[in-house]
Amino acid sequence: MLITAHGISRKYDRTRSSQGSLQVLSETDLTIEGGKIIVIYGRSGSGKSTLLNILAGILSPSSGTVRYDGRDIYSLPDRELSVLRCKEVGYIPQLHSAVGTLSVRENILLPSAVIGNGKENLKSDELIEQLDLKEICNVRANVLSGGELRRLSVARALINSPSVIFADEPTNDLDDDTSQLVLQQLRLAAQNGAAVVIVTHELFARDYADVLLRMQQGSLVREKG
Ligand SMILES: Nc1ncnc2c1ncn2[C@@H]1O[C@H](COP(=O)(O)OP(=O)(O)OP(=O)(O)O)[C@@H](O)[C@H]1O
Ligand SMILES: [Mg+2]
Repeated sequence: MLITAHGISRKYDRTRSSQGSLQVLSETDLTIEGGKIIVIYGRSGSGKSTLLNILAGILSPSSGTVRYDGRDIYSLPDRELSVLRCKEVGYIPQLHSAVGTLSVRENILLPSAVIGNGKENLKSDELIEQLDLKEICNVRANVLSGGELRRLSVARALINSPSVIFADEPTNDLDDDTSQLVLQQLRLAAQNGAAVVIVTHELFARDYADVLLRMQQGSLVREKG
């Protein structure tokens, strides 16, 4: 999968709090290729999650285009965009989004309930093993710790073997060893051909970058790759 973002800008309307509008991104270009890890860092509030959500097809840009293999995703009908996202995109959100009443395994399998490929049970066993979730795989998500929820999100994002993965602070709440475990999973996905974009403020995560970008004043500054 080749993703090209061209001239992306995003404003938020803050008129209700009488602060006018806030320009978060301005005229940003980015190319994301399969097999590579892009790491984006920058200070809190600089627009990293905004950019990731625009790239993932979750948030429309105020201007500019995002193309997946040449297809302008925001010109697709809603249903087509949802199917494309479900099939091709793995998304690890910054905040937790597990369904509390479902077990860890059921949560991981959720995306495959929408679009399955018949291999999901095997894949979920593999991810549960790799992300050290075996002991809690039948536990309901509403009793999990922050780090357990984070690992669940990672497994859920990988269940459909997506061709592009967006990870927003994927090592939040994790100790060093578990952080490495998660980053290794993302590295493995890239080795298998996926395009991976990681947003993070963790210094060690930058070691995994093929391309390192800093978000500054609404633009991306290339630091490596
Ligand atoms: N829906 C919204 N309405 C108004 N302002 C918003 C909205 N979403 C984000 N913002 C503002 O846009 C700016 C960028 O937010 P964003 O979440 O993209 O930052 P970030 O770089 O991911 O920050 P962090 O590292 O803290 O997660 C922030 O000032 C935030 O308050
Ligand atoms: Mg953020």
